[in-house]
Amino acid sequence: MAELQSAKDRIEMRNGYSIPCVGFGTWKMPDGETGLEALHQALADGYRHIDTAAAYGNEETVGKALATADIPREELFVTTKVWNDSRGYDATLKAFEESRAKLHLDYLDLYLIHWPAAQGADADWQRTNQETWRALESLYLDGKVRAIGVSNFKPHHLEPLMDAAEILPMVNQIELHPGCNQEVTRDFCNRHNIVVEAWSPLGSGRVLENQLLIDIAASYGCTVAQLCLRWCLQRRAIPLPKSTDASRISENARIFWFNLTDEDLQRIDELDPLGQSGLDPDTIDF
Ligand code: A2P
Repeated sequence: MAELQSAKDRIEMRNGYSIPCVGFGTWKMPDGETGLEALHQALADGYRHIDTAAAYGNEETVGKALATADIPREELFVTTKVWNDSRGYDATLKAFEESRAKLHLDYLDLYLIHWPAAQGADADWQRTNQETWRALESLYLDGKVRAIGVSNFKPHHLEPLMDAAEILPMVNQIELHPGCNQEVTRDFCNRHNIVVEAWSPLGSGRVLENQLLIDIAASYGCTVAQLCLRWCLQRRAIPLPKSTDASRISENARIFWFNLTDEDLQRIDELDPLGQSGLDPDTIDF
């Protein structure tokens, strides 16, 4: 990761398209003026990668912020996701057009399946995921999106999708933070050249009081939030921190002036489960 100097710097995906190494998360970012201010702040602080989703209800605000930001389109990287009520080929194509219209963009940079069809709720869940994926492949081949991927997929969800795929997923966005290190899924993704993105890289704030993290952060002179984000980066994952506070937005982009030692990375890897959302893709009921 030594070559990465700022949130704008990019990592190449399997198809040669590249993705800025830190993204601005927008889950729970309010729609409207507060969200708009946060997005403008993020863009001023050098974030070029914005992560939203149909289900977040703020695509229009993201679109407005991008349209008024005066940043060349090719510098920006915009992700959105198809929600669970729009799975399947036709419904996904329709959902994509709705998202694209709200975002006021000609093309998206990355489109993700938000959650795998959970087992139990859908007996034929592998096929459902494959049909949704076929729609993403067609959007990709039509040039409407530069890269496609999944979110919250474990290896046993990825395998049947990849078996049937013509185009392999370029990204898997998962919950990832100290205390939720997702070693099995990360290893699988690394072996298959799938870029990992980290949602809730701060455990939605739940990991910030942990004493080990406080002690390690003090030894570098960084904040615990910066430590969590740096740990993600050095574990080859793209963190997507969310904040609506101007100083915290800036803080979260300043993670390129220090380097965690292997020993400290491992101490963080080995933390007991901490700050997890409790959302398991195999048991979610939404
Ligand atoms: P706020 O928006 O008031 O800054 P995650 O990205 O893991 O979901 O975490 C988001 C939560 O963590 C939000 O509640 C956010 O609150 C808070 N947060 C974001 N950045 C920081 C930071 N640098 N220090 C402390 N809390 C933060």
